Formats: sequence, structure tokens, C-alpha cells
Amino acid sequence: MPSFSGQTVCVTGAGGFIASWIVKLLLQKGYTVRGTVRNPDDPKNSHLRELEGAKERLTLCKAHLLDYESLREAINGCDGVFHAASPVTDDPELVVEPAVIGTKNVIIAAAEAKVGRVVFTSSIGAVYMNPNRDPAKVVDESCWSDLDFCKNTKNWYCYAKTVAEQAAWEEAEEKGVELVVVNPVLVLGPLMQPTVNASIIHILKYLNGSVKTYANSVQAYVHVKDVALAHLLVYETPSASGRYLCAEPEGMLHRGEVVEILAKFFPEYPIPTKCSDETKPRVKPYKFTNQKIKELGMEFTAVKQCLYDTVKSLQEKGHLPLLVHTQHED
Ligand SMILES: NC(=O)c1ccc[n+]([C@@H]2O[C@H](COP(=O)([O-])OP(=O)(O)OC[C@H]3O[C@@H](n4cnc5c(N)ncnc54)[C@H](OP(=O)(O)O)[C@@H]3O)[C@@H](O)[C@H]2O)c1
Repeated sequence: MPSFSGQTVCVTGAGGFIASWIVKLLLQKGYTVRGTVRNPDDPKNSHLRELEGAKERLTLCKAHLLDYESLREAINGCDGVFHAASPVTDDPELVVEPAVIGTKNVIIAAAEAKVGRVVFTSSIGAVYMNPNRDPAKVVDESCWSDLDFCKNTKNWYCYAKTVAEQAAWEEAEEKGVELVVVNPVLVLGPLMQPTVNASIIHILKYLNGSVKTYANSVQAYVHVKDVALAHLLVYETPSASGRYLCAEPEGMLHRGEVVEILAKFFPEYPIPTKCSDETKPRVKPYKFTNQKIKELGMEFTAVKQCLYDTVKSLQEKGHLPLLVHTQHED
């Protein structure tokens, strides 16, 4: 078993929701971490400096995904790379180029630095968006999203993540970089950063009164700590290879189930009770398997806990008012 404590690793987009947790766990395990951020002086990254071990073993490096030199400097001298930085938006102007070119830049810089392994944070969005998939097929790591479908439905985030992951595999193969990919579903749980990221807004909008109905759709959820643990697990397991779907199939819920769980835990918020599309039957979940990551020893937090931890964190960070929980009849 190789020793990892004492290794130097680079985490791109270190101040983000998932990457902050990756940095925290790496520091806890004794790694020295170079975290790339676009602006090391921005107060939104200051939570990283508060982490245990940060004073001794964390450096924040200024880097932009489209600036190869900045990435090369951050990655040079590292034993490994966790590439988590990416815009998370459906605006094609903002997401496609940084996701795709940025990922290629990271792999090229990793090849130049001769790092041992790169772990890339891809997404379920690069896996399941395919209208031609047989509904009876259990989604696994062999599935890829259909680029034309992503384009035609203006799902530019999924389009960008699919092209970025394809580019990562091509570039890694060509440059001889050892690449492992984690494909998480929608990530929830406690925020470390002071701002609210896109996947947390998905839940916040059901609590702060900004939406009056919920959509007739399904979504799988995973805890942010589990996603960070999965990154370390695939980095530290020499036999790990290829892609890893990162979620529990039981973590897939219809939006109607999400609002029901939220309302049970937090009845004091104006949580929607009506579906925006009550004329059609409820959309059914698709089936997927997490067998591959489970075989590495991964265990997942229950989805109810993910939802609970998310709301508690939003309250603690001041993004949701603490309302008095009054008893009322249904
Ligand atoms: N959250 C989810 O549900 C989810 C699910 C599956 C996969 N993922 C993937 O996980 C990764 C992290 O997502 P997240 O939810 O943690 O998002 P996040 O909190 O928005 O973090 C994204 C990070 O990327 C950085 N970034 C964006 N554009 C950049 C650029 N042009 N140059 C350098 N850095 C840039 C941001 O840096 P700044 O702070 O400078 O803006 C930020 O730190 C992404 O690759 C995302 O696609 C997320």
C-alpha cells in the first residue's frame, strides 16, 4: 500500500462547494495541498485558510482554467491532481470553453509535471442524458450523454461536462496520464464556502418562497462529504480505474418526495405542495447502479440526511431565516 500522507496534490477550484470538502479531507489525512482559486484575496475563499492543517500545508495559487501557464505553475511538483473547477451554469458562453479547454489544460499540465494520477470531477450529466437509452437499461459507467440531445434541449452544462470528460480521456490517453473520473449526481450537504452554489439553490428555492410549485421530475442526490471521500478513495486505490458513478440508487427522488421530506423536517418554511404539471402521471426514476464504487468500500449517507444537513447548513450560514416551528394541522 503506497503512502499518501506527505504527498503534495493540487485541487483546482479549491474554494468551490465540493472542492472545499476535498481540501478539508486531504489536509486531515496529512497531504500538502495546492488549491487553485481565481482570486486568493477574495474573502469567499477565506474558509480554506481556517481549515485544520491549512496554516502548515495549504497554499492558494491564483489560476484560471483558460490560462495554461497559471495551471502549469500550480501543478508543477505535485504528486497528484484533483480537477474540480468548472463553471456550473447552463449559459453556453460561460460554461463550454472553460470546462473543455480548462480540462485539457489540466491534463496537459499534469502530464508535463509527471503526476501519478489525476482525479476529474465529471457529472451524472455526462452519463444519463440520452433519449435513445432503453428505459429498461440500468445506467452504469458505460453510458454517455448524447451531445445532440443536450444541445437541442439547451442543457449546456451537461453538454460541457460530457465534452470535457471525453476530452479528458482523449488527452490522458495521448499524454500517458493516469486518469480516474468521479460522476456524482446532484450534490447536497453542508456548505463550507460563504456563498450558495448552484446545486444548493436547487433546495433553497423550495424553502425561501421563491417557487410556488415543484416540477414533475426526478433527481438523484448525494452528500458532499461522500463525494469528497469518493475522490480520495479513487485517488488512493491503485486498482481504481475508469469512471465511477457516485450515488446511492435509493437517493433518487421525485420532486414531490423532496418537498414532502423537507416539509416533515422543516414545516415552518413556505414549501410548495403542488406539482407544476398535475395533468401527467408522476415521472418515474431511471435505474442506475453504484456497484463499481461500492466494490472499493464506499458507503453513502441516506438521502434524508443529505436534505436535513443542507437546510441546517443554510440556516447556520444565514441564507435562511430561523423561523419558529409552530404546530399546525394539515
Ligand atoms: N454540485 C453538484 O451538484 C455537482 C454534481 C456533479 C458534478 N459537479 C462538478 O463538481 C465540480 C465542482 O462543482 P461545485 O458544485 O463545487 O461548484 P462551485 O461551488 O460553483 O465550484 C466551482 C469552482 O470552479 C471554479 N471555476 C469556475 N470557472 C473557473 C475558471 N474559468 N477558472 C478557474 N476556476 C473556475 C470556481 O472558482 P471561483 O470561486 O473563482 O468562481 C469554483 O471554485 C464541477 O466540476 C461540477 O461540474 C457538481
